[in-house]
Amino acid sequence: MMSNHSIAGLALCATLLGTGLTSAFAADETLRSLAEKNNIYVGAILNSQWFNGGLPGNYEQIHKTQFNIVVAENEMKFDATEPSEGRFSYGNGDKMVKYAKANGMRVRGHALAWHSQVPNWVNNYKNDKQKLLKVLKNHIENVVGHWKGQIDEWDVVNEAISNNEPQWRSYSVWYQGIGPEFIDSAFVWTHAVDPDAELCYNDYNLEQGINSKAKAGFLLEQVKRWVANGIPIHCVGSQTHVEDTTTDKHFIGSPDSLRSLAKELAKLNVKLKITELDIGFKSGINVSKSDLERQGQTFRQYLDIVLEEPNVDTYLIWGVSDRWSWLGGLNRQQGLIYDESLNPKPAFDSILVRLQTYEPPQDTAGKDSTKKDSTANDSTDAIKTFANMSSLSMHLSDRTLFITGATDAKVEVFDMQGRPVFSAKNVKGSVNLKVADGLYVVRIRDGSKSLMQRISIK
Ligand code: G3I
Repeated sequence: MMSNHSIAGLALCATLLGTGLTSAFAADETLRSLAEKNNIYVGAILNSQWFNGGLPGNYEQIHKTQFNIVVAENEMKFDATEPSEGRFSYGNGDKMVKYAKANGMRVRGHALAWHSQVPNWVNNYKNDKQKLLKVLKNHIENVVGHWKGQIDEWDVVNEAISNNEPQWRSYSVWYQGIGPEFIDSAFVWTHAVDPDAELCYNDYNLEQGINSKAKAGFLLEQVKRWVANGIPIHCVGSQTHVEDTTTDKHFIGSPDSLRSLAKELAKLNVKLKITELDIGFKSGINVSKSDLERQGQTFRQYLDIVLEEPNVDTYLIWGVSDRWSWLGGLNRQQGLIYDESLNPKPAFDSILVRLQTYEPPQDTAGKDSTKKDSTANDSTDAIKTFANMSSLSMHLSDRTLFITGATDAKVEVFDMQGRPVFSAKNVKGSVNLKVADGLYVVRIRDGSKSLMQRISIK
C-alpha cells in the first residue's frame, strides 16, 4: 500500500507539472517547505467555498502542501461570528482551526473591529456610545476567548483609515458611534483576553508611501502614539491589493514604499506582515504571457521584503486560484498565483525560485537576528564567494564564472522563472556565461556535490 507521504509526493509532482520548474528544481520542494527553511510564513486564505465543501479536492491538497499559514476569507468576521446579538456562531471558524492544527499551520484571525460586514443589529445602536462600547467589548471577549490559544494573531482593527485625506474613516459605525478610541480599546480588550496572541492593525494602500499625506504616513504616527501609550499593538498588516495596469507599466504603490514602512516599524519594535496580497490586471484586457511574467516579478519583489527585513515574517495571498477570487468585484482579474484550473502560474514559479535561492547572511542564523542579504538588491553586480559543505565554490567576474572544488562540473543557468537559459558540461576552472544582462540562478553539479546561487549580470 502506498504511504500517505508517497501519495502527497505524487500529488505534489502533479502540482509542479505545468510549471517550467519540473526539470530545474527538486519536485519535493514546496512553497511551504521553503518558507519553513527560510523561517517565514507563506500562506493563502481558505476561500468561503471551502467551508461548505464547494471546492475540488485538489484545492485543499494544494493548500496544505504549499502553505503554512491560513486565514478565513469571511468566516471569522463580525457578521459571521455574531449574526444576532449575543448569539455566537463558531462552526466555520472551528473547522478552519481544526484544519490548521491537523496540518501544522499558523492561524490568523480576521477581523474584530471593522466597518464592513457588521450585522444590521449593530447599527440599531449607532447613536448610543455606551451600548456600542459594550457590544464591541462583548464581541471581542467572546470571540477571542473562544479561540484563545488557538489563533496566533488577530487583525484587531481593520481599515480604520480613510482613503482620501489621511484621517480616520468616518463612515464606520464604530467611529461614528464611539469615536477613534474604539481602536485603542479594541487592542486593550483583545490583549486582556489572549495575552499571547499577536495583535495587528490591518489596512490597504500601505504600499503607497510613508509621507504625511499617505495612509501609511498617518498610520505610522498612530503606531508611535500607541506604542508610547502602552497600547498592545505588535504588528501592522499590509493587505497589499495591488493593480498592474499593463498599459503604462505604472504601479500605484511599490515594494520599495512598503519596505520603507517596514523599516520605520522596526524602529518601533513593531512587525509588518503582508496579509492579503494579490496583483490583479484590469478586467476585460487581454493578459499576455509577458504580463504574467512581470506579475511574477512583482510577487517576488514583495517576497524580498519578507525575506530580507528582520521584522517582516508573513506573505499571505488573498486567494489560491483565479477561479475563486474577490477581485472581479474590484474590476480586476488574474491576481493570484494559480490559474482558473489550479495550475501554477509564472508568479508561483517566481516565488518558488526566490525562496529556493535566498541565502541568508552567513554569519547569523534565524529570521529574527537578520535576513539581510548582500546579494539581494537587483543592482548587485557580482555574487560574493560562497562555499557550501561540499566545498564547491563560485565567483563571478563580469560574465566569467570561476569555480573551485570541481573536477568536471556541469553548469546550468536559469532565469528567475526557473527556465534554463544556458548550460555547459565538463567545466573545470571557469566558464563564460553567454546570457543577457539580468538576474539568474546558477547551479553547479560535480559528481555528488552541488551548489546553487543567485547572480546578477550587468
Ligand atoms: O453571506 C452572504 C450569503 O448569505 C449569500 O448567499 C451570498 C450571495 O452572494 O453572499 C454572502 O455574502 C458575501 C460574503 O463575501 C460571503 O461570501 C458578500 O456578498 C460579499 O460582498 C463578501 O465579499 C467579501 C468581502 O471581503 C466583503 O467586504 C469577500 O468574499 C472577501 O474576499 C473580502 O475580503 C476583504 C478582507 O476581509 C479585508 N480586505 C479586503 C478584502 C477584499 O475585499
